[in-house]
Amino acid sequence: MVFDNLSRGHRAAVRWGSLVEGDLAERGKLAAALERHRVSVVMHFAAHAYVGESVTDPALYYANNLGGSLSLLEAMREAGVDKIVFSSTCAT
Ligand SMILES: NC(=O)c1ccc[n+]([C@@H]2O[C@H](COP(=O)([O-])OP(=O)(O)OC[C@H]3O[C@@H](n4cnc5c(N)ncnc54)[C@H](O)[C@@H]3O)[C@@H](O)[C@H]2O)c1
Repeated sequence: MVFDNLSRGHRAAVRWGSLVEGDLAERGKLAAALERHRVSVVMHFAAHAYVGESVTDPALYYANNLGGSLSLLEAMREAGVDKIVFSSTCAT
C-alpha cells in the first residue's frame, strides 16, 4: 500500500498495490490505513528532497520532513507497526 499526498508524486507511478491519498500530518488517517492494510513494515520515502529548496525554504522542510516523520512514527505506534526502513538522504 502506498500512502502519498501526491504533492510531488504521480498516481500512475503506483503500479502495484493500492494508493491511499493522504498527508503524513493526517495521523489518524495514516494509522487507520496501516491497520486496514495490515502493514507490518513501513518504507519511508514521503518527504521533500531538493537540497537547494531546503536552503531557501528551511521551514517547509522542517515541517514536512521532521514533522511528517514524527507523525508517521506516532501513527505506527498507534497501529502496532514496529519496523521502519528510513531512506535518509543521498547527501549523507
Ligand atoms: N532520490 C534519491 O537519490 C534519494 C536517495 C536517498 C534518499 N532519498 C530520500 O528519499 C526520500 C524521497 O526522495 P525522492 O527522490 O523519492 O523524492 P520524490 O519527490 O520523488 O518523492 C517523494 C514523495 O513523497 C510524497 N510526499 C511528500 N511529502 C509528503 C507528505 N507530507 N505526506 C505524504 N506524501 C508526501 C510526494 O508526493 C512524493 O510522491 C527523501 O527523504 C530523500 O531525501 C532520495
